[in-house]
Amino acid sequence: MSKTHFPLPVRQLAVFLSLLFSGYLLSCTASEAQSDTPPLNPNGDSELALLMRAMFDDAQAMKQQIKEGKTPRPSLDYEKILTAEATEPDKAASDTYKVHALSYLQTIKALQQADAAQAASLYENMVNSCMGCHKALCPGPTMRIKKLY
Ligand code: HEC
Repeated sequence: MSKTHFPLPVRQLAVFLSLLFSGYLLSCTASEAQSDTPPLNPNGDSELALLMRAMFDDAQAMKQQIKEGKTPRPSLDYEKILTAEATEPDKAASDTYKVHALSYLQTIKALQQADAAQAASLYENMVNSCMGCHKALCPGPTMRIKKLY
């Protein structure tokens, strides 16, 4: 009868080892999550996300040019906002997205034709259109975008 049961100390050891082992696994994944900087998106960065980062840098450069009294020079292939692949393709395929994207392109066109005197207010229109789309569809980066004002 006692042959089918492990003696108590062995059972305790087994429990101890299994706890130790699962604890080891847990702490291993936990420390991995702490030491690695998490990717902004687990599937890698989408074409649209990369374009957005370039748009952010471009806007920052324009802000600086305006500060220095220069005529800002928008310098990206902005039309890509209509076709770039997004992390969530449904979002970029929505009518809301298209309306905001087209109005953003309008503000860019106006900026491209602006002289130095008009530039500041047209630049602000452009940042407003970033904010408009982001408030509607993608609120995450709005704190960052606010810094462009
Ligand atoms: C038509 C809607 C729309 C407009 C206009 C727009 N965005 Fe975005 N933005 C998005 C969407 C959707 C994403 C998510 C992209 C993805 O993950 O594929 C995004 C992502 C971002 C990100 C995060 C990128 C990353 O690192 O993952 C930043 C920063 C950003 N936008 C800044 C801006 C700025 C600055 C402007 C204006 C110059 C702007 N956006 C205009 C829709 C828009």
